Parts: sequence; structure tokens; C-alpha cells
Amino acid sequence: RRNSKYAKLSQEHVEYFQKLLGSESAIIDGLSKKASEDIEPFNSDWMRKYRGHAQLVLKPKSTEEVSKILKYCNDNLLAVVPQGGNTGLVGGSVPVFDEIVINLQKMNGIRSFDEVSGVLVADAGVILEVADSFLAEKNHIFPLDLGAKGSCQIGGNVATNAGGLRLLRYGSLHGNVLGIEAVLPDGTIMDDLSKLRKNNTGYDLKQLFIGGEGTIGIITGISIICPQRSSATNVAYFGLESYEKVQQAFREAKGQLSEILSAFELMDGRSQKLVNQATNKKMPLEEEHPFYCLIETSGSNTDHDSEKLQTFLEHVMETSIISDGVLAQDQTQVQELWSCREGIPECLGHWGGVYKYDLSLPISAMYDLVDDVRDRLTKAGMVGNDESHPVVDVVGYGHMGDSNLHLNVPVRRYDRGVEKLLEPFVYEWVQSKDGSISAEHGLGIAKKPFIGYSRSDTMIKLMKQIKDLYDPNGIMNPYKYI
Ligand code: FAD
Ligand code: MLT
Ligand code: ZN
Repeated sequence: RRNSKYAKLSQEHVEYFQKLLGSESAIIDGLSKKASEDIEPFNSDWMRKYRGHAQLVLKPKSTEEVSKILKYCNDNLLAVVPQGGNTGLVGGSVPVFDEIVINLQKMNGIRSFDEVSGVLVADAGVILEVADSFLAEKNHIFPLDLGAKGSCQIGGNVATNAGGLRLLRYGSLHGNVLGIEAVLPDGTIMDDLSKLRKNNTGYDLKQLFIGGEGTIGIITGISIICPQRSSATNVAYFGLESYEKVQQAFREAKGQLSEILSAFELMDGRSQKLVNQATNKKMPLEEEHPFYCLIETSGSNTDHDSEKLQTFLEHVMETSIISDGVLAQDQTQVQELWSCREGIPECLGHWGGVYKYDLSLPISAMYDLVDDVRDRLTKAGMVGNDESHPVVDVVGYGHMGDSNLHLNVPVRRYDRGVEKLLEPFVYEWVQSKDGSISAEHGLGIAKKPFIGYSRSDTMIKLMKQIKDLYDPNGIMNPYKYI
């Protein structure tokens, strides 16, 4: 239910924002006669699963504008949703009712880059791929990479504490983000845009914003340490006969490739089959296998890396850890192999919808969950090849190197019966293994009822205290997890 403590948007409010932001393109006013379709993309999420009813979208151009917007909203009890690229997968970036959307897309400038330290300072609305391309020219890389890089914003990445494809090598944003500029609901600008690697001066408050999902303030700028870009990159794609063999391959990769290993991604055969069905593209290996993995190495010495990779490949082939494999020969092939992994989320949406579970689990038990869920849905008669079955298949893929499984259930339609079989079953299963119900996507609205499966009452109470301290009126991203 909409909380009646929040004010309803009026013409007077809109006029205030029009005066503040000026230009027409900085505001989409759903109260005016203008077609509501302009506002539609800001109201629905990437999966088209969650849809809000905002009547106003604001696109500030500066931190000062964000500050004035939030102060006015706080004073007038207008609820807001911070929004980046709107690629989040838990319904956190769209309104639930009529909250005002504050989208950061116009705050998209690089502020500075230090070529010696590798520290980048940029506005929150810079698109991840744009930041990475800027860094490529300086021979550096952004320490985060993910499939939505063409649309997601670095502020959104920090707000979700996104993990992605490079975490294995470069670690999480909690370590790489050195500073944050954010605006609190009362308009206070938190100027913690430090560029220091070490800074033990009291509580590290910026950490609350990393993964805070827009519940205590709006991130307007970040500083982040970016590694040197590796001159030698190799990508290989393997077929394997069991999950046991995938684990063996991972151990060997860590042992033999050690410092040059930059990604180890898992894809089950079913996920690859669906990529093939959705795209019609030729898959890298002729024969089908129950499991695949993608290994990337990045280093500074081509000969040294190739030699290491060759020895590794010979070993895993000779010991039958892998059944078949292909090594990319050029940049086009590198991208083709990566697309088999990065393309999965989009392909799974091909049939209509997807139930997505982003989980941290002990690596040895990770794939058992996929089998258990498939058995459960199959026994209930939900899985099949035709329209009479809601479920297309049950698949697993993810960041093997981080013990992060993506259990996905692509469906022809969202179905209450399927949902009841999945939840809370999946969360109970994860809890029984001391896992996490959200490894890297956050909680948003999707996982709001289930936080207790991963956090104790004490921890939830402490989180609520923080929320109340920073946002006493509760205007920031309400109805979401906290
Ligand atoms: P949005 O979706 O707009 O917002 C996400 C949350 O952050 C919302 O709660 C919003 O309120 C808040 N927020 C956004 N901007 C700000 C801000 N400036 N200040 C405060 N709060 C803000 N995630 C991973 O971790 N790893 C992956 O590998 C990965 N791959 C993906 C692949 C695809 C194809 C897609 C669609 C998504 C993927 N994601 C992945 C999900 C991931 O959370 C997002 O892609 C990304 O981090 C969100 O950024 P965004 O700018 O789109 O944020
Ligand atoms: C990924 O790893 O591809 C993303 O986290 C998106 C997803 O879970 O589908
Ligand atoms: Zn992921």
C-alpha cells in the first residue's frame, strides 16, 4: 500500500523543479498533457517485472541541483527513487507507487584521472563502458566489468556494489572505491571524495553507500583506483562432463595460471543451449557438454602468458579434466567467446520472463541447487517444451571464481504456482548452506521479504538504525528492502 505520509505530486511541486532545473530535457512531467510514454522507460525495470507510476522524472546536472532537489523533497515529504542506467535485477531502481525518479544520466563527466596512481574521479552518471573506454586510452581499465556495461552507470554500480566478471582479479568495489560524494536527504553534500588508498581516520562512512541501493542518499561522484590495462589477454572456452570436473579445472587454473588468471566463469550446458536457441548463433564447440567454463588470463608478457596457458591446457586435456576447448585467436574471437557468457541474461528473457536468483554458496554445493530446483519443478509438471508448461528450463551459470551462482528459471509467463515452488524453497536451501540470498545484485524489492534468510534480527535492526539516522523521513527509495 502507498504510505499516506508521503505528499502527492502537485503542479506547485513541478513548477519548483522546472524553475530549478531549467531546461526542458531535465524534467519529464507526467502531470502535463505530454504523452505518458516518455515517462514509461523510467517506470519499468530491465526485466519488465516491476512497474511503478512516477509522474515526474528529474535529471539534475550537478551535485548542487541534486542537493536542492532532495532538500525540497525532504521538506515536502516527497518520496524519491535514485536511478542510474536502470539495469538492476531486483526492482530497486523503479518506483513502487508514485515516487519521483531522480535519474543521474546528465551527470556524466570525467572529473580527473591521475596516470601515476591510476585514480579516476568521475560523476556518478558516467556509463560504465564510457569510463572503461576513457581508461583504455590511458592504458588502464575500470576494475569492474559486466554484461550491462553499455547502459549501467558507475554510480549505479557502486550503489549496488556490483561484482561482475573481474572481481576474481581486482576485488570488490568496497576495496576499489576510494571516495564518494553523495547527497543526503536533507540536502547535505557528503564530500568524501578522497583519492587516498589509505585513510584510517574514523568510521569509513562511504562504505554504507556502496551497496546501499539508494536508501540513504544519492551518489553524485566517485573516486576509484583503476589497474593498468594488461597488454596480453587470452580467452579460452571449455566443455566439461561434470560439475566435479569444473571444480578440478578451477583448482588447476588457480594453481597453474595464478597471477594471470582474470576470470573463471561457469555456464551449464542448458544455459548455452538456450543462448543458441535464442540467437541461432553457432556455438564455439561442435559437441554439446553438460558444463562449460570460460577462462580469461591477463598479463604483461605475451610469451610468458602463452607458455603458462599452453602448459595448463595440455595438463587439463591429458588428465581429461576438460573434454574439449577452444582458444581465441584474435579480438573478434575473444568477443565471440565472451558473448556466450555475457549474452545469457538477455537470451533467457527470450521466452517471456525469468525468475532470477543471485546466490553465494559453498563452491562444492553450488550446482546441487540447480539440480534440486529442476527436479522440484519437473515433478510438479511445470517444465516442458510447449506453451502448456510455464517453465522453459532451469539453468545455472555464474562467477565460479567468486562462488556466485546465478540460478535462473526462464518462463513463458510469470506464474504464481511456479513462484510458490521456488520461494521460499531456494532461500531455505541457501540458508541451510550458510550462503547469501544476494551475492551481487542487492535486495531491492524482489528480496525484501527474504532478508532474514541471510541476516540476523540484530543485523537488520542495526541497518534500520542507520536508515533512520540518515533518512529520518524515509523519503529515499521507500518500500524497498529497508
Ligand atoms: P540502476 O539499475 O539504475 O539502480 C540500481 C540500484 O541502485 C537502485 O536501487 C537505485 O535506486 C540505486 N542507484 C542507482 N544510481 C544511484 C546513485 N547514483 N546513487 C544512489 N543510488 C543509486 N550485476 C553484477 O553485480 N554483476 C554482473 O555481472 C551483472 N551483470 C548484469 C548483466 C545484465 C545484462 C544486466 C541487465 C544487469 C547485470 N547486473 C550485474 C545487475 C547490476 O546491478 C547492474 O547492471 C548495475 O550495477 C546497476 O547499475 P545501474 O546504473 O543500471 O543502476
Ligand atoms: C551475470 O553474471 O550475467 C549477471 O549478474 C546477470 C545475471 O545474473 O543474469
Ligand atoms: Zn553476475
